[in-house]
Amino acid sequence: MLLSAPSGKAMSNLEITPATPADVPVILQLIRELAEFERLLDQVTATEAQLHEGLFGPKPSAEVIMGRLHPSGEVVGFALFFHNFSTFLARPGIYLEDLYVRQKYRGQGYGEALLMRLAQLALERKCGRLEWSVLDWNHRAIDFYKALGAVPMNEWTMYRVTGAALERLGGGAAIESANDSDRK
Ligand code: ACO
Repeated sequence: MLLSAPSGKAMSNLEITPATPADVPVILQLIRELAEFERLLDQVTATEAQLHEGLFGPKPSAEVIMGRLHPSGEVVGFALFFHNFSTFLARPGIYLEDLYVRQKYRGQGYGEALLMRLAQLALERKCGRLEWSVLDWNHRAIDFYKALGAVPMNEWTMYRVTGAALERLGGGAAIESANDSDRK
């Protein structure tokens, strides 16, 4: 699909398509580039095999759209997303996990084009929301999102249970220790 962005930038050379299994190596590379930009590269443990399973296995957990230059096929950026569900709306939503445009292609309308495509998908799939998280210090991305009509959810704080805490919680240790403290 060739796109033109509302900002009027020349987008006739951008092709946005769903990723295929052959894209897994470049997707992992893009994930690592974004993590490096976010100063979180040390937290990336993802492997090609895991990504393949998560995106193209029997029960995929997420989807990816790729942005490529036409006709060279050079990868400009990508978006990785999955569905969530709003009980208030009783409708699915799209959660954008990663949006990334390679440095030399930034500021040319490609990020906007990827986000537009996701918004189109959200409408096509009758979703009520398109949402994501962004690091507080990433002012360029925050300004980019606000310019496209996104609003921050200031009253909401994301929580996470992972690693040893997840093992403890899932393994019942937290419940046992709560019972222990009941006994004291
Ligand atoms: N300030 C204000 N508005 C901006 C800014 C800015 N710094 N940057 C972009 N915009 C607005 C403008 O309206 C711009 O069009 P205009 O310049 O013609 O007015 C419009 O957004 C489109 O900008 P794009 O050129 O499409 O932006 P780009 O291609 O650079 O993509 C992105 C933006 C994805 C943030 C890219 O710069 C990038 O990958 N940055 C590094 C990684 C990153 O921060 N990713 C997002 C992390 S959050 C997440 O993944 C959910």
